Formats: sequence, C-alpha cells, structure tokens
Amino acid sequence: MKNSIPLALTFDDVLMVPQYSEILPKQVSIKTLFTRNIELNMPLISAAMDTVTEEKMAITMALHGGVGVIHKNCDPDTQASMVAKVKRFENGFIREPMVLSPQAKIVEAIVIKEEHGFKAIPVTEDGTLNSKVVGLLTRNDYLKNKHADCMVGDRMTPFEDLLIAYEPLGLSEANDVLEESRHSKLLILNKDDTLHALVTRRDMEKNENFPLAAKDNGKRLLVAAAVGPAHNMEERVKKLVDARADVLVVDTAHGHSKGVIDTVKYIKKHYPEVDVLAGNIASPQAAEALIEAGADGIKVGIGPGSICTTRIIAGVGVPQFSAIQNVAKVAQKHNIPVIADGGIKYSGDVAKALAGGASAVMIGSLLAGTEESPGEIIYAEGKTYKYYRGMGSITAMTEGGKERYAQANVADEKLVPEGIEGKILLKGKATSEIFQLCGGIRSAMGYAGAKDIPTFQSVTEFVQITAAGIRESHPHDVGILKDAPNYRG
Ligand code: XMP
Repeated sequence: MKNSIPLALTFDDVLMVPQYSEILPKQVSIKTLFTRNIELNMPLISAAMDTVTEEKMAITMALHGGVGVIHKNCDPDTQASMVAKVKRFENGFIREPMVLSPQAKIVEAIVIKEEHGFKAIPVTEDGTLNSKVVGLLTRNDYLKNKHADCMVGDRMTPFEDLLIAYEPLGLSEANDVLEESRHSKLLILNKDDTLHALVTRRDMEKNENFPLAAKDNGKRLLVAAAVGPAHNMEERVKKLVDARADVLVVDTAHGHSKGVIDTVKYIKKHYPEVDVLAGNIASPQAAEALIEAGADGIKVGIGPGSICTTRIIAGVGVPQFSAIQNVAKVAQKHNIPVIADGGIKYSGDVAKALAGGASAVMIGSLLAGTEESPGEIIYAEGKTYKYYRGMGSITAMTEGGKERYAQANVADEKLVPEGIEGKILLKGKATSEIFQLCGGIRSAMGYAGAKDIPTFQSVTEFVQITAAGIRESHPHDVGILKDAPNYRG
C-alpha cells in the first residue's frame, strides 16, 4: 500500500469557470471520435445493457449522430440479428414487415391490424419473406364485418396492379416513384421477386430527415456490439463481424485484466479491420495496457453507474471525473479516444466529462426510461415506469451476464451481485432526451468560447466546489412546481 492517498473527484465536485466567448451554442461543433477510426456527430453512446440498447435504441442513437452498443445478454445469433437489423435499416423503408399467404383468412389480417397497427400486409406465396410476392392486402380490400372468413388471396390487390420497383433503390428514388404514381404503397423487390422493403406515402410524408446520422462508408447506420472474455467469445465475435458490427466493445467490469487484454489481442489479430473499444478501467496503467494490446478506444468507469454497487460491495472504484482525467492524460498521448461510461445525471455532467478529457459519454439510466429501451413497463403508485437493471444484478447475471463480473462458472445461488434492479419514470421518446443533452453540451461550449470538443478540452478551467456549492447549484429555497425537460427535481 502506498502512503499518500490522492484526492479523487466526481462531477458534482467540480464546475467549469466561464471564459471569454465569441461563439453561440448553435455555432459549436459536437463532432467527436468514438474510436481511433470512427467519428460520431454527437458525443453520446447508449449503454450495452439489456434494459437500454437493442436495435430500436441503436437505430435512434445512430440517426441522431451517436451510436448504440447492442448488449450481449443473449446468444450470439440473437445479438448478431439485432446488429444486422440496424445495418439494414433505411429510414422510411419498412424491412421485414409481417406477411400473409393467399390461403390465410382475412381475420388474420384483422388481428395483425388490431395488435400491431399494420394496415398494409404484403402477400407472399407461402406466407414467409423467403417466397415471391403475389399481392398486397390493404384496409381498402376488405370489410371487417363481412370478409373475416374470406381468403386473403380472394381479396388482395394482385401483383399486376401493384406499384413495384426493384433493388437497389434509395430513399429519394423511392419517394420520386411514389410521387409520380397515384399509389400510396410501393413494394421494393429483390431480383427473385422476394420482398426487400415496403414504402408507404404516409411514412414518407411524416419522415423526419436525419442529416447528421452516423453512417459507415456504405451509408448504413453505425452500430457497435458488446463482447466479453467468455467461453463462446470467438463464435460471438465472428457472428458480430459477419453481421457488420462497426465496433466491438470488450465490455467488462474490470478491463485491466488478462481476459480482456487477450480478447482485444484476439480480435485485432483475426479481424484487424474492426475497431475495438475496451474497458472498463479507471487508472493510467490500465490505459497503457489496453492501448498496448491494440484497443482503438478505451472506456472509463468503475462503479459510477446509477445501478452499480461495485464501490459498496467491493470497495473498489475511482470517482468518475478524476478517473476520466487520469486516463485521458495517457490516452491523448496515443491519440486514443476515451469514452466516459456511467454516472451521468444531467447534461452538465456530460459537458464536464468531455472537458475533462472524454471524447464521448456512455449513458444508461437517462435513456432507460424512453420508448426505445427494451425494458418492460411497470405501473406503481399511479405512475408509469420502465424497468432498468444493472448487468451485475442477480437477474441479469442469471440470464447470461455473469462473465462481465468474473463469475462465469459460479452457481446462481452463489452469485455476488454488483448491481441492483430499479425503475425509471417513463419519459417518452429518446429523441427529446438526446436533444436536451446535446443542448446542454452546446451551452457549456458557448460559455467556454469553444468551437469544438478539442478546444473545449484545452480551454476549460475547473474549480473544485464544496457541499455548499452543490446546494447553491441546484434550485433551492423554492418548491419546484414543474419539472423542466432536462431537470427533474
Ligand atoms: P448510468 O449511470 O448511465 O450507468 O445508468 C450505466 C453504466 O453502468 C455500468 N453498469 C454496471 N456497473 N454494476 C456495476 O458496477 C452493474 O450491475 C452495472 N450494470 C451496468 C455500465 O458500464 C453501464 O454502461
């Protein structure tokens, strides 16, 4: 044990001193690096947790310029299929819609409409996406009370009367085809007449544009996926690479360990074209070790997360602001980006993490309550919540996440959890959360007079504050009548 004990600080312990500025929040660039080779248009990443990131969240994050890390608490095939769904996503294109066969009864279409809201159902020879399209059943093709027992094939609009185009066809071309015709649906087919996508005029009209979407060279959305030093690591890595994951995230509670270093080396040796982000760590020595192993980015955070109990159960961790600063000093020398993972409560924390040396932040709790997260909905005390759990909670570990906490071969009843299960107030769409977080970052950069994130890092001066300072920072001496969208009292 060393004699002197250094002080370590977290976000609430510091504030940024305002600087002379000639720049407005709307003028700043929040572009950043996710890994050595991969850029993002905003510095936000959704956490590799099974109550935060599956394909829906990953698509939303990438559409706004960030990225999602698909969790690994499932078998490699399931995880790879989520990655593939993000890579195949084209805004406005409905891929893999529900289909029926001509022999199905209209009542099945009625059930699909009532349960899922889909009004247009492509009809294929055998009722799967692997067979040829033979027609389309829309709401205008039947009467609910009269035709429920009729066959789909007898009521559908037949192939020859459909508006058809063939792959490859981009979004704007699809739009042009629809605008030129009087049809309201366009079916895009593959060369063998199987369905590639369904495009509807209504979706096109309400389609938002995402000019800042984070994309690969082939114009597909970026996506990352978690892996760990588990018995099936090689199989998982291969399946994720085949599904075209852009970045593999070696996601563990203790990144400064042989298993993680060997996993990074394995991926870099066998798949040198894929970038690897490795973690989690909290010390400069750990950063050196992961960078030497070949990591293209490193992830910092031991115990800051909202659902984490590592610091309480093991007594281990480093307050997140100091951990970021200490790791960033080493990483910057090697031009390797640092991702700050966990502990973000407000947009101001994101700004402090970035100014303190992080290239981007990873977020769990602030996104877990949104519509795009996979958590189940819970009703309690007259309010609506979403379930959010730590990947080191007992239930998450028994469902597959043990190896993240080095307990892969431990029987369920002997598990020592390092996380809890909780609930988060349901908040609506992730888009508004993202908007508020980016707004806070922009505001901070405006106060600093920093036009971009590297400048923000070089000009920011921090001050350490006391408990009185924190009290003064939050609203005080008034009863809050109404929560703001970025501040819940
Ligand atoms: P926030 O604060 O954004 O943190 O909710 C999300 C991050 O927390 C980490 N994580 C855990 N850490 N025990 C831990 O010690 C856990 O059970 C656990 N689950 C997630 C993870 O790094 C995530 O991104």
